Amino acid sequence: MKTVILSSDPASLRRAADHLLSGEVVAIPTETVYGLAAVGLNPDAVKKVFAAKGRPSTDPLILHLSSPDLHQAIHAGILSENTPQEAFKLASVFWPGPLTLVLPRGPRVPPEVTSGLDTVAVRYPAHPVAQQLLALVGCPLAAPSANRFGRISPTDAQAVLQELGGIISLILDGGDCSTGVESTVLSLLPPEPTILRPGKITTEDITRMIGRAPRRQTQLSASNKSMPSPGMLESHYAPATPLYLAQGCLSHGQSGLIFIHYRTPREGISTNPFVLSPEGDTETAAKNLYRLLRQADTAKGKAIVIEPIPDGNLAPALRDRLQRASVGTARWNGTCWELQRRGEI
Ligand code: TXA
Ligand code: MG
Repeated sequence: MKTVILSSDPASLRRAADHLLSGEVVAIPTETVYGLAAVGLNPDAVKKVFAAKGRPSTDPLILHLSSPDLHQAIHAGILSENTPQEAFKLASVFWPGPLTLVLPRGPRVPPEVTSGLDTVAVRYPAHPVAQQLLALVGCPLAAPSANRFGRISPTDAQAVLQELGGIISLILDGGDCSTGVESTVLSLLPPEPTILRPGKITTEDITRMIGRAPRRQTQLSASNKSMPSPGMLESHYAPATPLYLAQGCLSHGQSGLIFIHYRTPREGISTNPFVLSPEGDTETAAKNLYRLLRQADTAKGKAIVIEPIPDGNLAPALRDRLQRASVGTARWNGTCWELQRRGEI
């Protein structure tokens, strides 16, 4: 299959919308990462998303709403009448934006989207191209990140092409994603608000709005099998080159730098590390993370070593993604990194 990258002019948007409405998939930009979209109310189209990604059908998708108005989503049968008040508050403040809410499902959402759960994850994205496309399509788009399952999420059209070229026919180019890591996923189901995946909207942001601190779920516990979340899987967001988390920094005296080092098969450590953020701020690091991980991966080194992430708004999200991508830890012994595989530590 030939894969075409479309710009985001009105004719291209129309073509993408028609393709979606005919039951096909299209890769689309959002402010977080690119998504692989299908009309969320069309089960056959949704199945094509799982097939293109190689994603198990047991992992539910996010519905991108065509409007930030939750009342409209309830009226359209996307959300249940029992949508909690906290959802209205959070949506009014953080939408459009990188916050996904897990809420009771409405009757019109097919089980293919939610993997049979009684809940549905929804968000209204901030990217203007995504918004224009959603308005043209006029119904929610189910869209997971536009990468092969378990791999690095794409943050530009070329990265989508690298992941899904030859597998899908249309990629809508909306430039580089401004956030760079996936949305915060917050469950508002009883017994208490729970962050299932950290992102740009922080625990503190949410606490300020709803007056209580959400719990942070770090692992898929045995007692909670009813809430499968691929974001909960240990190995996720991973480059092909094994990634290790450094214990301590090499860049002494330059605190705040966030480095990805890599080792080539023959030399030791690369002298040309990839810098996530020269100023050491986590927003810049998040914006650069997946692109630089891809570049480090292309260098075909023996290992990627990443220095600790300093504190900052996006630190929990960055640490979460890197922890899931990593195979172990690395310690600098004065000459080279001592790499220790998880399980052998
Ligand atoms: O930023 C994002 O959220 C991007 C862009 C494209 O919007 N999308 C994205 O989708 O990251 P995906 O499929 O890669 O991640 C969706 C996350 C997964 O961890 C999934 O398990 C969780 O949301 N999720 C979806 N529906 C759920 C549900 N009903 N209950 C619990 N978790 C759910
Ligand atoms: Mg994903």
